[in-house]
Amino acid sequence: MIHLKSKDEIERIRECGICSAELFKYLENYMKEGITTKELDRISEDFIIKKGFKPSFKGYMGYPSSICASVNEEIIHGLPCSRKLKSGDIVGIDVGIQKKGYISDSARTYAIGNISPNHKKLLKRTESFLYLAIMKIKAMVEINDISGTIEDLTRKYKYGVVYDYCGHGVGYKNHEEPEIPNYRFPGGKRKLKPGTVIAIEPMINMGEDGQFVLDDGWTVVTVDGEYSAHFENTVAVTENGYDILTINPDDLKSILQKYSNGVVED
Ligand code: MF3
Ligand code: CO
Repeated sequence: MIHLKSKDEIERIRECGICSAELFKYLENYMKEGITTKELDRISEDFIIKKGFKPSFKGYMGYPSSICASVNEEIIHGLPCSRKLKSGDIVGIDVGIQKKGYISDSARTYAIGNISPNHKKLLKRTESFLYLAIMKIKAMVEINDISGTIEDLTRKYKYGVVYDYCGHGVGYKNHEEPEIPNYRFPGGKRKLKPGTVIAIEPMINMGEDGQFVLDDGWTVVTVDGEYSAHFENTVAVTENGYDILTINPDDLKSILQKYSNGVVED
């Protein structure tokens, strides 16, 4: 069942989402060669707690950390560890933020030092896919309009699709109904009512379709070792369109402006 959220509840989720946006900005200062993903986890957890929030991933289904940090061929759910980041790496940071029973979910992928032109494109395009999919949202949008937008763009740029992990409803729990895959699916004819809150999260592979999970039981990696990027926002479906809850309202206008012509940033 999809739990619709009231305007008031959406504001509670936005409070969490703005904390995540501030965290992502703060982390830019630390995304340098030599830092470990464990240090990034510690820095993020301290930031979240100091602001009066809680990391919602920690302890969720036994997850040990406050963030997921997925490096290079790691797609999602990378476990923070003593690995030192080096120039040329890309690192996806995914964070759930909770306060008084409300949760936001968002992710960004950062470049460390100098990354290759193809990886730069992968990051810019994956972020574009996220926003172009969000811009399809309005009251009674079909899930496949969102999912299909991401699938078509993935194919257009000859990237690989991740099948086993999806966007999802969010707000009271980390994962709620409905599923929002990054490809069309039979259940995707379902229409979303105003008050539905979803995390949209394209995970885009440079190489082949698919993924597998490492022996640690968490880290999802590409089949061929090619890099993968991940961007995610929590978004509410509204009467008139969409409301992105994990972006600082001051930044929103310029971001939407950037994508208003419907073209992928290259
Ligand atoms: N944003 C992640 C997802 O939707 C949530 C991971 S929860 C964790 O898959 F516990 F696995 F980290
Ligand atoms: Co998510």
